[in-house]
Amino acid sequence: MTQSTPSTPSFSPPQDEGCVKVTYKGKTSKLPVLSGSTGNNVIDIRNLQNDLDLFTFDPGLGTTASCESKITFIDGDKGILLYRGYPIAQLAEHSTFPEIAFLLLYGNLPTRHEYNEFVNRLEEKSLLHEQIRNFFNGFRRDAHPMSILCGTVAGLSAFYPEGTDTSNEESRDVSAVHLIAKIPTIAAWAYKYSRGEPFVYPRADYSYSENFLNMLFARPDAPYKVNPIFSRALDRILILHADHEQNASTSTVRLTGSTGAHPFACIAAGIAALWGPAHGGANEAVLKMLRSIGSKENIPEFIAKVKDKNSDVRLMGFGHRVYKNFDPRASIMKRTCDEVLAELGEHDPLLELAMELEKYALQDDYFVQRKLYPNVDFYSGIIFKALGIPENMFTALFAVARTVGWVSQWKEAFNDPLRRIYRPRQLYTGPEERDLKGAKHN
Ligand code: SDX
Repeated sequence: MTQSTPSTPSFSPPQDEGCVKVTYKGKTSKLPVLSGSTGNNVIDIRNLQNDLDLFTFDPGLGTTASCESKITFIDGDKGILLYRGYPIAQLAEHSTFPEIAFLLLYGNLPTRHEYNEFVNRLEEKSLLHEQIRNFFNGFRRDAHPMSILCGTVAGLSAFYPEGTDTSNEESRDVSAVHLIAKIPTIAAWAYKYSRGEPFVYPRADYSYSENFLNMLFARPDAPYKVNPIFSRALDRILILHADHEQNASTSTVRLTGSTGAHPFACIAAGIAALWGPAHGGANEAVLKMLRSIGSKENIPEFIAKVKDKNSDVRLMGFGHRVYKNFDPRASIMKRTCDEVLAELGEHDPLLELAMELEKYALQDDYFVQRKLYPNVDFYSGIIFKALGIPENMFTALFAVARTVGWVSQWKEAFNDPLRRIYRPRQLYTGPEERDLKGAKHN
């Protein structure tokens, strides 16, 4: 089947907006200021070392543009998130996850024909080689799903060598589709394996989200009917988690890709980075935090611990390196949470507690002064729990969604004329050269 994948947009050099002069020890370097289509301008510091023998210092890279990209734009002060220019609220309301995957991968929303062809490609690639089932047996039943996801994705290269060729756009597109199609199957099978239940295969008559729910919850002895409210909620959750500019895991994927490593290795590296509680692991950490608080009467005591610098307690699901206003995804997650719980006819005491906690924090100077607001993870755990997804699968679900962003950003890097291996420098504060002779004690 010929793929009508639209060409990836070519890179236009950023516009030059003048320059910044840096003078040091009597020498001056003129550093160009570059502007993109919107957002912050950047100082191009590539000549700084040649001109002044200086590096820049930016631990955590919070004010460093590591690349040029056309995929996702965030304005942290205004709480804006755009995928290829479209506001996240509109996409979450009116699009499907495969549509967003196409948009992030190829730059435009698909025509009806392109959409059907893309969905067929995903369905064709959603099965795993039968021998991959053996990977799971190598893990303990209580292995964290993220460890299985990380190990199995890296191992895909042994079964799909065609996906390891990064030499041309066509082969990179093949591996991108392989990964987007297979990641939900691997995640669902990791869950089934942990429960000792038989694996459920993807079905051609189910959508991406329906398949994921069915592979998680269907059993041979009990028919599973996908609730359309749940599959729609899951589709929206996947859309919200699909991409997010140069976050820690995406930067990991780009860095790994810059060495020429094949895409399965790059995505396995992204999964490993996402696993951390400061990043994608926060959704699981929020539920543990809510359970440890227990009731709204304990909120003041908990918040006092958070504000106590001697404790390393953080209000999980709050704060963000970029958003210094509401994370636009958090409000959509909260609304989706209300829909799912209404469908279940349930009220979850953890949701009530989360809302009380949010209200309390947003009135507290500590959080207001530091511009700490709920982020995408604050409510997501409560929805996942309502959908019947176990806590240790929350970050795996995040990884299923973010695989689309990771492969889109990984592919984009190959079309960047400035592409080169990541190799940051450092401010060295260790011992200067010294002679071993005087130091040895034996
Ligand atoms: C994600 O980058 C992305 O885009 C990530 C993500 C994506 O889609 O890819 O959006 C997904 O990872 C969301 C974030 C999920 N993590 C959490 O919810 C964990 C809790 N949040 C924090 O750990 C923290 O807010 C971070 C890690 C998210 C951001 O950390 P920063 O930008 O490095 O902030 P910081 O540590 O420099 O904090 C600045 C101040 C500090 O206080 P002071 O030293 O100024 O007194 O704010 C405080 C921090 O102690 N602070 C918090 C806090 N977050 C920051 N205090 C209490 N609770 C918090 N959650």
